[in-house]
Amino acid sequence: MKISKLWSTVFLHVFLLALAGCQETESIVAVDGIYLDEICNQTENGISINFESMGLNSLRSKFLSSSHVIALNLRGNGISTIARDAFARLPNLCYLDLSLNPSVQDVIYANFPVKLKVLVLDSTVQNYDGYRSYDSGEWPTISRVYPEVKYLYLRSNKLSKFNYRWKLLFPNVTHLFLSHNNFHEESISSIPESVTHLYLENNNIKTFRIQDFPNVVSLALDGNNIEYINSNYNNPFARDGNNLEILSLGNINIRKIHPDAFSYMNNLKSLNLSHNQISDLDTKIFSRTLHLETLFLNHNELSTIPDVCGLPQLESLSLQYNKIRSVSANTFCDTMTLKYLNLAGNQISNLQFDKFENLKRLEVLDLSHNILHELSADWNLSLNLLTDLHLNENYFEDLDHLYLNNTSALQNLYLLNNPIKTLNTDSLRHIKNLNLHLSYGVKCDNILS
Ligand SMILES: *[C@@H]1O[C@H](CO)[C@@H](O)[C@H](O)[C@H]1NC(C)=O
Ligand SMILES: *[C@@H]1O[C@H](CO)[C@@H](O)[C@H](O)[C@H]1NC(C)=O
Ligand SMILES: *[C@@H]1O[C@H](CO)[C@@H](O)[C@H](O)[C@H]1NC(C)=O
Ligand SMILES: *[C@@H]1O[C@H](CO)[C@@H](O)[C@H](O)[C@H]1NC(C)=O
Ligand SMILES: *[C@@H]1O[C@H](CO)[C@@H](O)[C@H](O)[C@H]1NC(C)=O
Ligand SMILES: *[C@@H]1O[C@H](CO)[C@@H](O)[C@H](O)[C@H]1NC(C)=O
Repeated sequence: MKISKLWSTVFLHVFLLALAGCQETESIVAVDGIYLDEICNQTENGISINFESMGLNSLRSKFLSSSHVIALNLRGNGISTIARDAFARLPNLCYLDLSLNPSVQDVIYANFPVKLKVLVLDSTVQNYDGYRSYDSGEWPTISRVYPEVKYLYLRSNKLSKFNYRWKLLFPNVTHLFLSHNNFHEESISSIPESVTHLYLENNNIKTFRIQDFPNVVSLALDGNNIEYINSNYNNPFARDGNNLEILSLGNINIRKIHPDAFSYMNNLKSLNLSHNQISDLDTKIFSRTLHLETLFLNHNELSTIPDVCGLPQLESLSLQYNKIRSVSANTFCDTMTLKYLNLAGNQISNLQFDKFENLKRLEVLDLSHNILHELSADWNLSLNLLTDLHLNENYFEDLDHLYLNNTSALQNLYLLNNPIKTLNTDSLRHIKNLNLHLSYGVKCDNILS
């Protein structure tokens, strides 16, 4: 009786959704900002239905019937049983989210629509560990194969291996989300070759060997306790790691990185080493990652800006919350392509801006939360493209101390929480359309008219 009552609620909702015109697919953002219209390539107006946290406890046979439904969200219900043909009347379903239904009996037993491209099973298959081991190879059940599934989410499920049955079920999966499980280095070999985007944050991986991920383009290993990055220059297998473009190694508890650690990652474009205890980086460390465009080293213990001179394509360097006190003479060389430089949250009191002379392409400079009283008079030479200058939480008292004469492209100047008492904007006269961000209470003299 309870079930039928629930279902009348559900059908009422469908009806109301229909009256409201439903949401068009373009406006739907699925988990982690994935846009359905990019993946599902729907030409007609698809319908997306949201049954999140509605207390459903079972999905009956053919419970919904529509060829227009392309996305169905069933997160966070108490679903325990799903009829084998529950989804039989949803031929165009592309996105199905069954996550956070921890007591579901055997979710894979259901026949999902063959056009499914995104399947979200976070915190949904975890309870199998107890009585039917994944690793025994008996589970999941193979009732049908889903060659169209490209995005598979299995986060927070206590999984320690991606067994061959998963591979058979989803032979063409490209984006595999396995964060918050029990994967360790030995179980990584079970990851299918079709996977190009692999998310393994917060598992039990202790050694990172690039040769274990020959086809992977984007890899996240944050939050593992990695003791050792093995990209041994003399190891021929390491050369297979050539496809990696995006690597995130944040919060892996490392202090020291071997100079050869990234030697065979010569297609690397983005590297994240934030939230570690790195206090120095060998000058050779980036000697082979010549395509690096983005480097994150936030929340480490660096006291100088690392040598990035040899990186001809570096556009973005982020060093927030380190222990940098000054910018030394050879930091930036004349080939720098840097557009974004973030030095917020350091202990910089003195900037020799002649050292910034080579940052001719810089567009955004963040120096917030340092101990600066003035910028150097020399910096006017080079920063002609600078549009955003962040100087919040410093000790500036007067705009004249910024020497902004030649930063004519400036659009946003942030000066919140500085001891500026009176604002003399004479020195900003030449800048058109400047947005000045100041703390409340600053008196304005000579405001531009
Ligand atoms: C998307 O759909 C259109 C029209 O059906 C088709 O021409 C196009 O090739 C499809 N694109 C992809 C990436 O599948
Ligand atoms: C999907 O997988 C099947 C079986 O492995 C294979 O035959 C097919 O070519 C694959 N399709 C795509 C688009 O990769
Ligand atoms: C870098 O790693 C940190 C720590 O894991 C994480 O919080 C951050 O989101 C990552 N940034 C990028 C751009 O991946
Ligand atoms: C601008 O740069 C020139 C050349 O380095 C320097 O002589 C001058 O003092 C600077 N002026 C200001 C106000 O920044
Ligand atoms: C700096 O600005 C002043 C005044 O606007 C100008 O005369 C000078 O040529 C500029 N210097 C450079 C290097 O752009
Ligand atoms: C730059 O501005 C300062 C006042 O802020 C002024 O004294 C100096 O002459 C200006 N320099 C140039 C090159 O315009």
